[in-house]
Amino acid sequence: MKCRVCQHEISPFMTFGRMPIANGFLTADKFDGEYFFELKPAFCDRCFTFQIEDQPEPELMFHDQYAFFSRTSAFMQRHFQAYGNWVRETFLDDSESFVVELGSNDGIMLEHFAGHGISHLGVEPSANVAEEARRHGVNTMVEFFGPQIAQHIVAEYGQADALMAANVMCHIPDINGIAQGASTLLKPRGVFIFEDPYLGAMIDKTTYDQIYDEHVFIFSALSVSNIFAPHGFELIDLLPQETHGGSMRYVLARTGQRQVSANVARIIAEEKSAGLDQSGTYDRFRADCEASKTRLVNLLRAEKEAHRRVVGYGATSKSTTILNYCQIGPDLIEFISDTTPIKQGKYSPGMHIPVKPYEAFTENYPDTALLFAWNHKTEIMEKESRFASSGGKWITHIGTE
Ligand code: TYD
Ligand code: ZN
Repeated sequence: MKCRVCQHEISPFMTFGRMPIANGFLTADKFDGEYFFELKPAFCDRCFTFQIEDQPEPELMFHDQYAFFSRTSAFMQRHFQAYGNWVRETFLDDSESFVVELGSNDGIMLEHFAGHGISHLGVEPSANVAEEARRHGVNTMVEFFGPQIAQHIVAEYGQADALMAANVMCHIPDINGIAQGASTLLKPRGVFIFEDPYLGAMIDKTTYDQIYDEHVFIFSALSVSNIFAPHGFELIDLLPQETHGGSMRYVLARTGQRQVSANVARIIAEEKSAGLDQSGTYDRFRADCEASKTRLVNLLRAEKEAHRRVVGYGATSKSTTILNYCQIGPDLIEFISDTTPIKQGKYSPGMHIPVKPYEAFTENYPDTALLFAWNHKTEIMEKESRFASSGGKWITHIGTE
């Protein structure tokens, strides 16, 4: 395969096997026609970009039945409010500002610009979540962002002061098209700010469940810097985030236009000492994934032998990788509870574990809960203290937790 960024010839360093669409929660009548592809990650030793080889067509993942709504977590609501405020205070200097967000989902961040009367536009391909954003007063167009859409936006609204994204850039295979679009869209001193799950955190904790169809890339500062340099952008700041189990916020500006924070050199040096630019690191990661799989499957088999009920907590997209890679089905996990109505009453992709409303968990506690929404651990532990105090046990696929 060719690197999606720099066209260098690369090959996958492992396979997670046959995978369905991670957010493809389905009813039983759809089992027969379920879509599968092989999930194979690769690392480019020229531009240092971590990527997956095959990705299903975007229309199979982002559509008018897209199951992921950002607003489901109270912690994430606060996070996006803080993100929006930070962008406003740091980069926007007057009420004339115009901001654009890619993959604005249900408007969870842009509403904090709309609320301040700032001209804004969300570009969101999934019609159902875009409709929810409009209900919150957020100006939204249903489109996939790219160079042409950037031109349309400039023609209609003028150039933007800030282009933002959160947990979106890692979804877009044509990253060069996005960089080109950013170049068209942004004013000379405009900034492109995005955050995504961070490769450094994933390698460190073996949280391989960040790898699934939607996440075609897992970025590092090293790779982002290499991706954007040919398009005339440089990193001017890097801000680690706790969201999604360890994310990075990347701030880019046109080269030479803005002061570069000392964070940039510091974090790039840390990435080099962690070996994020070395192929050997990914061979070790493969071995860590295999060990993690063995540990989790043994843990669940032991629970079953002891006649203990195990349920999953949070029907996350990430759980699709864990369940299918480890081949864990309803024989080991009775059901998965989730607060998202569109997922309830359906089955998990590939392994077909029933997804039930949150109340199925609280009304009849299992012996053990497998925390698939481990990235929301703090929020969930606070909310669920009664489960642990009544003897319930929490487990995750992460060995150290
Ligand atoms: P999220 O962790 O954001 O992840 P992913 O990107 O892997 O899909 O999704 C959280 C899922 O967990 C979402 O379906 C809602 C559910 N959830 C609960 O059921 N209860 C909770 O308390 C929280 C925080 C999330
Ligand atoms: Zn490359």
